[in-house]
Amino acid sequence: MDIKQTLILVKPDGVQRGLIGEIITRYERKGLKLIGLKLLLLPHAKAEELYAIHKGRPYYDRLIEFMTESPIVAIAVEGENAIQLVRLINGATDPLKSAPGSIRGDFSNHITYNLVHASDCLENAKHELGILFSPEELC
Ligand code: PPS
Repeated sequence: MDIKQTLILVKPDGVQRGLIGEIITRYERKGLKLIGLKLLLLPHAKAEELYAIHKGRPYYDRLIEFMTESPIVAIAVEGENAIQLVRLINGATDPLKSAPGSIRGDFSNHITYNLVHASDCLENAKHELGILFSPEELC
């Protein structure tokens, strides 16, 4: 068994389009266990911390603005191979590569407005969970 925890964000476009339930259902159906869940307006400083690695890229300012201008849903999940499984369920960032059946493949055609974010490795999952959740908020 390789039980891991990871962070998922339903981005503002997912909340605005009424896809929160649809998106969460996909992780639950796959057998991942929800251990944290909240709707929030992402503070600017937390968005910058989350996307620090992208600072300086041409899309960075627009990405920070997009992520902070209306509410997101933060989700912590736990399960075997959770980090890789969640990224598989989300689909590729590039809309031309996200497979049908994945969240992005089914619902997004844009590299910025792509509905979901998920941690990409164990180190980042721990770091990103710490940005969005305090230890007491995780069940
Ligand atoms: S990379 O290049 O490997 O770091 O790309 P990736 O890991 O997929 O993360 C890129 C995140 O930035 C968001 N974003 C964009 N990426 C590329 N080009 C453009 N124009 C762009 N605009 C926004 C992209 O949605 C990824 O966000 P997250 O939240 O990490 O999925």
